[in-house]
Amino acid sequence: MEYMKRSVTCGELRATEAGKTVVLNGWVHRKRDHGPITFINLRDRYGVTQVVVEADAAEALKAVAGELKYEYCIAVKGTVRARPDSMVNPEMPTGAIEVVASELQVLSRCETLPFMVDEKSDAKEDFRLKHRYIDLRSFSMQRKIALRHEVAFAVREYLSGKGFYEIETPTFIRSTPEGARDYLVPSRLYPGKFYALPQSPQLYKQLLMVSGMDKYFQLARCYRDEDARGDRQPEFTQIDIEMSFVKRDDVLSLVEGMMGYVFDKTLKVKLPATFRRIAFDDSIELYGTDKPDLRFAMEMKSVEALAAKSGFQAFKDALAEGEARKAAAAQKGITQEGGAVKALLVPGKADYSRKQIEELEAAAKIYRAKGMAWMKVNAEGKLEGGASKFFAGEAAAPGLEAELIAFMGAKAGDLILMVADSKRKVACQSLGAVRSKLGKDLGFCDPSKFEFAWIVDFPMFEYNEDEGKWDTAHHMFTMPQEKYHPTLESDPGSVKGDLYDLVMNGFELASGSIRIHDPVLQKRIFQIVGFSEEEGQKKFGFLTEAFKYGPPPHGGIAPGLDRLVMLMAGETSIKEVIAFPKNSFAVSPMDEAPNEVDAQQLKELAITILEDVSGKRLEIQK
Ligand code: AMO
Repeated sequence: MEYMKRSVTCGELRATEAGKTVVLNGWVHRKRDHGPITFINLRDRYGVTQVVVEADAAEALKAVAGELKYEYCIAVKGTVRARPDSMVNPEMPTGAIEVVASELQVLSRCETLPFMVDEKSDAKEDFRLKHRYIDLRSFSMQRKIALRHEVAFAVREYLSGKGFYEIETPTFIRSTPEGARDYLVPSRLYPGKFYALPQSPQLYKQLLMVSGMDKYFQLARCYRDEDARGDRQPEFTQIDIEMSFVKRDDVLSLVEGMMGYVFDKTLKVKLPATFRRIAFDDSIELYGTDKPDLRFAMEMKSVEALAAKSGFQAFKDALAEGEARKAAAAQKGITQEGGAVKALLVPGKADYSRKQIEELEAAAKIYRAKGMAWMKVNAEGKLEGGASKFFAGEAAAPGLEAELIAFMGAKAGDLILMVADSKRKVACQSLGAVRSKLGKDLGFCDPSKFEFAWIVDFPMFEYNEDEGKWDTAHHMFTMPQEKYHPTLESDPGSVKGDLYDLVMNGFELASGSIRIHDPVLQKRIFQIVGFSEEEGQKKFGFLTEAFKYGPPPHGGIAPGLDRLVMLMAGETSIKEVIAFPKNSFAVSPMDEAPNEVDAQQLKELAITILEDVSGKRLEIQK
């Protein structure tokens, strides 16, 4: 029998349509039998409409209604009827009407559901992913997928309006070192050779600038073999952007404009025209991280000078050890930081229990803090408890107690937390982790607030203590800021790169930089990170070759689309905004990728599996 095709969707009927004959298609969301009357809530992407099978309906119609179960896909023909005032459901857009069924058709049946199609599923994540097609039926998931579409569409609109070309770059590329591990694709035609899936289109977008494309963007799929986290997936999407003849601020203002457009268009949220800029060093000192959550202030302070006047030997030892390490590094010509004592004021939380303070300390220890000192300001405005004995009374220099309270801006009833370490970064990061936890615990992280900031002036190089060499902090094509060009080799530790991150609500949303377009400067960077000329040639030869032919000055950035939509949707995992994500073990529970392949396929690729493929421990044979 031919199926009755819908004349309206389940979201569009209003009281003005009363009396009309309509056909609806959708899924049985709920079904209630009230004696001889059956109510069906019929659902599709657009909404829910109440269908009524009345007591005096034809027997055949009642029989079909009786058979219906959750998620049967059905067609309903009927008449729109205004509900009596007392029955109007103001919660439902279609709540003023119901459709009195005259014909019902089962289009397909549904077996017992693994979980209900609900707004907030409490089914286990792997179970949801195994039956993702059911999970995606819920309005909450459909809203997020719709938001993702709207964001992507607005991005395309904005960038096209600014003269950008959307250009696809290959997903089978040559393996190049970019930070994470590559996913590899074996070549059948060239046994023993592999394509790599791009970690990002970085080199290609730079080549497009050499090609004179001037303004490029792409909603680019990227692939990285790294450990999964809430904000990471093995495959994800970047809004990849590159521009020629620009300086840093051109890229920043383009992205500010784009974010403003996207937020206004999709969420009706007005963002400031420009985002605040925070130097990397300041971000670490104030918030202990280069991706601060700025929905709350709670800035950390440096209290080394005060700690030196205290009687706290552990703090003094940490500072002395830091000084010794700094001096030893300086002798080798390496700029390194000493120790730090960082302090955080928690207003009104002198009533925190020992257990609550221990939980905060545990957050600090994740970042290698040896401990966290605390003290309270009592009703008399004096320090009390914990480490207060070292900052007040005989053990401390005269006046230190009042000096510390004034410096921290503390009042009666406040809590002061401190972390000291011989490594400045450890002290900052650990207390920063405490700040983040406090933000969440104290309810400062309102998901409907969006606090953007640019982190700028990143260090260009990081010293790799394990290997005793310098690494680039971002990638090797980032331009060192001009004023450091003369001292690149003599003092890499002080060099700041022309690179920038966009952060929001404690997440890194985007990274980018102005690129090197001078082959001589590029060679110097390769040398500083210990890349021999041959190695540079072998790995990036095609880029250095291209740069012989008049490359323009250029720069770019890549906001992560998944992270952006995740935050816009008020979620904390990017899986919530990806239709078919992998689980935390990089597995798709639905189609069970990755899977074993036929011996014949392997043979064609000239691949032998050395490991025990029976699913047991994998061990590479020598
Ligand atoms: P970067 O590696 O910092 O820079 O990536 C840019 C942005 O991509 C997102 N992102 C991810 N999202 C989900 N899962 C992941 N595994 C993942 N990794 C990164 C983040 C991040 O800020 N080529 C440079 C950009 C440039 O210099 O133009 C790059 O890829 O939101």
